[in-house]
Amino acid sequence: MSRLFRVKPMSMLSQEAGEQGEHTLKRSLGALNLITLGIGAIIGAGIFVLTGQAAALYAGPAVSLSFVLAGIVCAFAGLCYAEFASIIPIAGSAYTYGYATLGELVAWIIGWDLGLEYGFGAATVASGWSGYFTALLAQMHIYIPPQLTATPGTPLVFYQDQWMPVASLPMGVVATGLQHATGLFNLVAILVVLAITTVLVIGIKESANLNSVIVVVKLGIVGIFIVIGGYFLIRHPDLAFRNWHPFIPPSDGHGNFGLNGIALGAASVFFAYIGFDAVSTAAQEAKNPQKDMPIGILGSLAVCTVLYIIVSTILTGLKNYKELDVAAPVALGIKVTGIGWGELLVNIGAVFGLGTVMLVMLLGQSRVFFSMSKDGLLPKWASTIHPKFRTPWISTIAVGAVVAIMPGFLPIDQLSKLVNIGTLLAFTIVCAGVWVLRVRHPDLPRPFKTPFVPFVPIMGIITAVFLMTRLPAITWEVLIGWLLVGLVIYFGYSRKHSKVQAIPVAKEAD
Ligand code: ALA
Repeated sequence: MSRLFRVKPMSMLSQEAGEQGEHTLKRSLGALNLITLGIGAIIGAGIFVLTGQAAALYAGPAVSLSFVLAGIVCAFAGLCYAEFASIIPIAGSAYTYGYATLGELVAWIIGWDLGLEYGFGAATVASGWSGYFTALLAQMHIYIPPQLTATPGTPLVFYQDQWMPVASLPMGVVATGLQHATGLFNLVAILVVLAITTVLVIGIKESANLNSVIVVVKLGIVGIFIVIGGYFLIRHPDLAFRNWHPFIPPSDGHGNFGLNGIALGAASVFFAYIGFDAVSTAAQEAKNPQKDMPIGILGSLAVCTVLYIIVSTILTGLKNYKELDVAAPVALGIKVTGIGWGELLVNIGAVFGLGTVMLVMLLGQSRVFFSMSKDGLLPKWASTIHPKFRTPWISTIAVGAVVAIMPGFLPIDQLSKLVNIGTLLAFTIVCAGVWVLRVRHPDLPRPFKTPFVPFVPIMGIITAVFLMTRLPAITWEVLIGWLLVGLVIYFGYSRKHSKVQAIPVAKEAD
């Protein structure tokens, strides 16, 4: 039994972190690269799509408080990630931290669970991306056959010069009389995942450079929304006060709105923050990980928290929250200002912005598999480095192929919540791990120290579990099913091939 909880010795981790040569990942990322990598992963479908839904269905204008709440949960977890990333700068992120502190079985569970975050996350965003991309093409009067833009069986209609799901029609518009089509599979989403996979195989530096350019575009467009929207509201304070009143709508009797609605909104918009932790998966590609990983993690989280609170406040000021349950709420919001090119700009921002989210998610997933394979928990091919590109090319292609299939055929509405529960579980384990490591190895050099331990880790655990309890039962059921499949693989393969299990017991204590 105790074998299941054998930890990976710190000496082994330090040795791996210091490895150099052609069979290792290339160290090319600086602090700014890491912050942009984080922002590239964070700003995406959450702010561009889910904010409107969370305001309309759960929280009303108080969705900005949902962002504050979700931001607090992430801040606790971010501080814990930062400590780990500075001590253990290895590509595997939470998986590696779990291995060093809570043992192999927990590490396996977390590594497998990260598949929900990164793999399913990339799939979810790919699906959202295809929606924005087809909308953008439609604005230019270019039409992809609608059957190839939606999951099987999705009813679509042609309305206001574009194809859209019947469910996204504005209130009061009836589908009868409109041209109809039915989705076959989402080819657009499949192709975008494959394209990004190709970029990732070619190289981390190239991927990071492309990411930096796109992050600048994305931040620029969010900035333009804030300036145009904010200026409009200053000039039309009546509109803002009408839309913000009541700021916390009274509960509807089903748990929505009121204080519980803010919590439900937080459990939903939490998706918008996911990604800052993905910075830690690039630890072995950072030039100076001890110093730069905490800057990358906490810096990107801080920038996005501030932007989200401002954007959601302006959005609910521009448009009444009841009307925000649409596919592109930010574009709808900017339309109110009467600036004609605003909608086009937001669509362009979303297309590029969601692209970088997928890039970092796919990068993170292949790096987690890379680390698990290095430890013997997954087959050796998953950590094979390409001799020229110096990237884990086989695991990148394998991840890309599986992730590409998901948004092609599966509906996305439940996916984002599944990603949330998987990520919150990872956060919980990381927070617990920081605390455990402080007790077991109090003297370990810590270039970055989480403040107020154990208060911060305990609050991280409590708040993450609280948000998990706000997610629907079906999400819990799928999480448990996913973890059970993982356990079958662990006991069937990983335990027998684990390198840590092969270390003689006497040598383990270090
Ligand atoms: N935070 C990322 C997004 O909102 C996952 O798309």
